Amino acid sequence: MAYRVGVIGFGTVGSGAVKVLLENRSQVARRAGMDVAVSSIADLDWETDRGLDLSQIKKSTDGWELIRDPEIEGVVELVGGTTIAKEFVIGALENGKDVVTANKALLAACGPELFSIAAKNQRKIHFEGSVGGGIPIIQSLYGGLASAQINEIYAIINGTSNYILTEMQEYGHPFDTVLKEAQNLGYAELDPTYDVEGVDAAHKITILASICFNTQVNLNEVYTQGIRDITVEDIQFGETLGYRLKLLAIAKDLGNEVEVRVHPTFIPKNRHLASVSGVFNAVNTYAEGLGSTILYGRGAGDLPTGHAVVSDLIQCAQDSLARRPIDYSNFYTPRKSLRPMSDIIAEYYLRFLVEDRPGVLAKIAGVLGDHNISILSVLQLESEGSQCPVVFMTHEAREGDVLHALEHIENLDVVLAPAKRIRIEKMNSRKN
Ligand code: HSE
Repeated sequence: MAYRVGVIGFGTVGSGAVKVLLENRSQVARRAGMDVAVSSIADLDWETDRGLDLSQIKKSTDGWELIRDPEIEGVVELVGGTTIAKEFVIGALENGKDVVTANKALLAACGPELFSIAAKNQRKIHFEGSVGGGIPIIQSLYGGLASAQINEIYAIINGTSNYILTEMQEYGHPFDTVLKEAQNLGYAELDPTYDVEGVDAAHKITILASICFNTQVNLNEVYTQGIRDITVEDIQFGETLGYRLKLLAIAKDLGNEVEVRVHPTFIPKNRHLASVSGVFNAVNTYAEGLGSTILYGRGAGDLPTGHAVVSDLIQCAQDSLARRPIDYSNFYTPRKSLRPMSDIIAEYYLRFLVEDRPGVLAKIAGVLGDHNISILSVLQLESEGSQCPVVFMTHEAREGDVLHALEHIENLDVVLAPAKRIRIEKMNSRKN
């Protein structure tokens, strides 16, 4: 007995998944309860040598051939994007196939539609590779963490940004230099927009928040801010004050509302996530009773994500032995509204360039006080001529109040440049 698979898209992850299936065949069969065999692969590029023995596998340039093949039970979609990939996924489900995909953009944007088509056709969509590469976060949420009501998620889920921030912090090189290095090393895409602007992380946290909080999250409403404007100076000021800068994806279940956001964030250096460096990813969840759980590992790459895809195929094969009804409705039903960014509560790092003369700090502090913003500490750095940078660390404040205060402060004649504002997340609302 074998579970037959068709793979559409034979790029980095596709080759990784096929390699894992070929090399770990007996381990996969033991776990799946049957052989899991790649019958066909579809891709437009058959010139590139993937270094794999494909002699037993049909090669095609047309994904629809696989979708219509009655022998194939599971279709792996690794084309990427939200156009033809979406058609392949829908086509596969409507042809009675299970779908395995690592396509976070597609799931974040079209999840509700796709899951409802899956349910209608009594088929499943598995998507372990869509979040955190080789980290088994999705299967953990449905498996070992299934009984936990997770109400907070803090995640480093974009390896490219984390690599760039780590290099900026360790070597003091500016953003543009490190981005070029990352591209030369093959860590960053030639078009790194989705990675450095936080969009990739927004796709992934949208998926995680929907599952954990049992509500549909609208990707377009997720506040998304990337790392392009981050300077070495801010990273170093933060370090001096005991914080490390991360592109953090944050999601909180607040009862009737949820918060889902991605932005550069200072976290205390003694938190586990602060030591997640380079291209590594980590997801930290909190649940009442269970406390904090952290999954850490390689968030990208052919073999790590290939393993995630194959672990999904093992689930498909197990399910094919005992077809069970599926209920996806919980996480694509809109139940909770997204809290507006102006209402979120955070601590803030605020850096100003000011004239170095008496009364300046008092003026800024006065405006902060007028807007109900309490100051935790102030760091004044050495003057550069008649100017000097000052950093205010605040206690928790409402984002809307901070923005109003900054409008006033930036209009003061002693303030010489727009303020730099970075949110701080202490991740300690649950103590255990
Ligand atoms: N481009 C992503 C990253 C990996 O840099 O983490 C794929 O999701």
